[in-house]
Amino acid sequence: MNKLIVSLLLTLGITGVAHAAGDATAGQAKAAVCGACHGPDGNSPAPNFPKLAGQGERYLAKQMHDIKDGKRVVLEMTGLLANSSDQDIADIAAYFASQKGSVGAADPKLVARGEKLFRGGDLDKGLPACTGCHSPDGAGNAAAGFPHLSGQHAAYIAKQLTDFRKEEAGRANDGDAMTMRTIARKLSDEDIAAISSYIQGLH
Ligand code: HEC
Ligand code: HEC
Repeated sequence: MNKLIVSLLLTLGITGVAHAAGDATAGQAKAAVCGACHGPDGNSPAPNFPKLAGQGERYLAKQMHDIKDGKRVVLEMTGLLANSSDQDIADIAAYFASQKGSVGAADPKLVARGEKLFRGGDLDKGLPACTGCHSPDGAGNAAAGFPHLSGQHAAYIAKQLTDFRKEEAGRANDGDAMTMRTIARKLSDEDIAAISSYIQGLH
């Protein structure tokens, strides 16, 4: 590879060189305890437990570190990752990333509003389109750590957007740039309901 490109990739942190490489097979065994809530293959059956299947490895690892360090508060997971090493976290992330995420259905009454906001944002409110980072099909950008959204439970998505909007609710781990907190503050309850339903049916 061209030297300039290599240094550029390193600067952006998208080569993964600096991170422990995950082993999906080792991760499957380590993820056994997670299955009770997230589903054995990461397709959780309950709307308040997020699907992890098919989620980007980098994003998964970041969330696990944030939950372990208390930067993101998940009461249901208290202490669960306390003894997990960086390698354990990388392996579990590799396992769930390798699984296929299931898709849900959108509420037909909410699709139009959800799609408009997701794809076009809202110029008047200064709301950017979600597609810019989460991609038009909601697959996200695994290398950049932008999460995969499509097919995720609407109830979970709505809770995240509400928690980002009111950061003391426990979701304030979107970094110093506060990207998602800034975006969520521009969304009304109706916007959140429409976008969340749209995302659940997106594939
Ligand atoms: C008792 C239920 C429960 C168990 C067991 C559990 N989790 Fe969770 N997990 C949750 C809940 C609930 C959330 C979402 C909380 C919220 O609304 O923010 C979550 C969130 C997450 C997220 C963030 C997902 C995202 O899209 O941001 C990751 C990653 C995660 N869990 C990984 C794990 C792993 C790995 C294990 C096993 C070591 C595990 N969880 C075990 C309940 C559980
Ligand atoms: C500039 C890039 C960017 C834009 C634009 C953006 N997001 Fe995000 N989003 C992110 C990043 C980065 C994260 C992960 C934050 C973290 O580390 O927890 C995220 C996280 C999320 C999450 C949490 C996912 C999970 O599994 O818990 C949801 C939901 C979300 N975004 C929805 C949206 C919606 C809806 C829009 C459009 C209104 C949007 N985002 C626009 C970058 C963006």
